[in-house]
Amino acid sequence: MFESLIARPTDAIMALMAMANADTNPNKIDLGVGVYKTEDGATPIMRAVKQASGLNLTEEITKSYVSTIGNADFRKHMVELIFGSDYPALTDGRIAAAQATGGSGALRLGAELIASSGLDPVVWVPTPTWANHTPLIGSVGMTIKQYPYYNKTTLGVDFDDMLTCLEQEAKPGDVIVLHGCCHNPSGADLSKEEWDRLAPFMRDNELVPFIDLAYFGLGNGIEDDTYGLRLMGQTCPELIMAASCSKNFALYKERVGLVAAITGSADQAALVQGQFGALQRRLTSMPPDHGAALVARILGDAQLRSVWSEELDEMRNRMKSLRAQLSGALRVQGAEAMADAITAQNGMFSMLPLSIEQIEKLRTDHSVYIMNSGRMNIAGANKSNIPLLADAILKVL
Ligand code: LMR
Repeated sequence: MFESLIARPTDAIMALMAMANADTNPNKIDLGVGVYKTEDGATPIMRAVKQASGLNLTEEITKSYVSTIGNADFRKHMVELIFGSDYPALTDGRIAAAQATGGSGALRLGAELIASSGLDPVVWVPTPTWANHTPLIGSVGMTIKQYPYYNKTTLGVDFDDMLTCLEQEAKPGDVIVLHGCCHNPSGADLSKEEWDRLAPFMRDNELVPFIDLAYFGLGNGIEDDTYGLRLMGQTCPELIMAASCSKNFALYKERVGLVAAITGSADQAALVQGQFGALQRRLTSMPPDHGAALVARILGDAQLRSVWSEELDEMRNRMKSLRAQLSGALRVQGAEAMADAITAQNGMFSMLPLSIEQIEKLRTDHSVYIMNSGRMNIAGANKSNIPLLADAILKVL
């Protein structure tokens, strides 16, 4: 049986992570995989998570199964965090939600739900998008197409081209994958004005938003980072969203995520929730509880929640400060556009306008690791290596 298998290409993000780990240069700068790092290059357990872990360890009395849609407190607190507790669809009981195995599990459940409708819509993803979107969503068997998003010359969003493409090519019922904030890989987000135009456009063209909210809290704060999602959910009759606690709770390896859908009625929400449970049962039976129980405890406890929110602010502000420092160091003749883009972009990523040869040179000559697409994770830099990083980028330009 195994002789008939063909080798699959290694995932580009995982391959770069291994390459950077194998580099023994003490001055290497790893700007690859999307994990937050502190000034000294560590990815620590957040303070509130540490405290909640201690409490859960003492108080937990069973490891018995929870449910196919996961931890109920986690779902409740996450939905309220993401949409706001007085959100009309929530108070009307029109939101279905299930805990998922990370943001990826949430995307997969969302994709499975779409496929279960039997309507066979095309799923549109931005160009570029997270490297795993197409494999993850495509493996459910739906057709994936791309719409223009990031302009590698202006280093901003090609909003008009995006609307033109969707208006001319997408059919009613098609699903549009949008990054709620902190676009991965470019860091270029839609402005509030663009969300304000996009939401009625989606409704009028009968397109269904599928919003990936992997980095919320790390762009401009929870409220700002969920602006587009909340607006879309109040404008369009239906919406699917996939959120992750990997980055904003630094729970990467615990695999904590939430899939949710806004539906037309409370009855439909119950039906969709049942679908989430049945789909998850078929795929992996149930999501792991450990990380979700920690998030539920933190969000449900005022003291822990404020410790968490303070640290999230610190993380976000540190990345903004790194952006300002790198931008300042790159502000030389010929690199001004790149310097401007780095401060205008949000979250962990920016996409440097470099060729593959320049990116390889960064690796071989300077031990600087960014993705072949030009994506760099700004959190991998620090105050002391920013001059080295800027120098390396300017040298290869
Ligand atoms: C990334 O984009 O680097 C992260 O989301 C990690 C991953 O799983 O790809």
